[in-house]
Amino acid sequence: MSTPPGPAPGAEEVTPQTWHYGLVARWWSLFRDSGPEVDYFRQFVEAGQPALDVACGSGRLLVPYLQAGLDVDGCDISADMLAHCREAAERVGYTPDLYLQAMHELDLPRRYETIIVCGGLGLGSSRAQDAQALRRLWEHLEPGGRLVLDNEVPYADATLWRYWSMDARAELPQPTRPTGNRRLATDGYEYELRSRILAVDPLEQRVDRELIVGQWLGDTLVAEERHLLTCNLYFRHELVLMLEAAGFVQVDVRRGYDDGEPSADDEFLVYLATKPTTH
Ligand SMILES: C[S@@+](CC[C@H](N)C(=O)[O-])C[C@H]1O[C@@H](n2cnc3c(N)ncnc32)[C@H](O)[C@@H]1O
Repeated sequence: MSTPPGPAPGAEEVTPQTWHYGLVARWWSLFRDSGPEVDYFRQFVEAGQPALDVACGSGRLLVPYLQAGLDVDGCDISADMLAHCREAAERVGYTPDLYLQAMHELDLPRRYETIIVCGGLGLGSSRAQDAQALRRLWEHLEPGGRLVLDNEVPYADATLWRYWSMDARAELPQPTRPTGNRRLATDGYEYELRSRILAVDPLEQRVDRELIVGQWLGDTLVAEERHLLTCNLYFRHELVLMLEAAGFVQVDVRRGYDDGEPSADDEFLVYLATKPTTH
């Protein structure tokens, strides 16, 4: 396939709504600064530059890549996450090109040898928007360029998976957990995240979750926010088909995050997909 077809029906609907704002964005910037994804995705960026980190968030991957001298831009739907990313990059002396854009509307001045998406597909978006996002990623790759995208399998979380059955779904929404599991951050505040599942729709392969985040100073609750997030859940074969429908070839599925052959026991899969060199 040379050129991907036009926009997927429904892709222009409402703006995707995620929970990566305010205190949640702050929590990401304070606590999410490492993980196996950082080194795993790095090898692909090293092998193909320039690179774009789509849904770069607070810069967990992007900032160390800049520090390693790699040519990488970032984009995200959340201005709050991007602000934390910019701050983190500036703290170590970098001013990367960061774009505030939803991936299904991606429209950047540059084309890339590598595009990475770590933990970013299917958050708050419709399935049509996810399909459209894959087309936009394809558009932003150079011929022969590679997309590296991870995705959590729908059955990874045993608690969530239980609610795919009708009987268990009748118990939803889950009750709100009581407070009592705070973490001290470097800014002197303690933070607590409490999430719960509100609804699961197995026909649509979608889960609705609520997140309550509290910020504490000693025993005083300084601030509390409530956010909602809808996630689309994808199985391996359908995501491969979606990538192929978007125009990608040589779609390879690996185990996250060591490049091994995937097995039924893996919670995260990584999809490597190439844009063809010839039309
Ligand atoms: C789980 S965080 C991952 C951040 C970063 N990739 C990392 O691994 O540290 C998900 C990020 O995806 C962003 N995001 C969600 N939906 C998006 C969309 N449709 N377009 C662009 N970014 C999106 C969120 O704002 C958030 O920063």
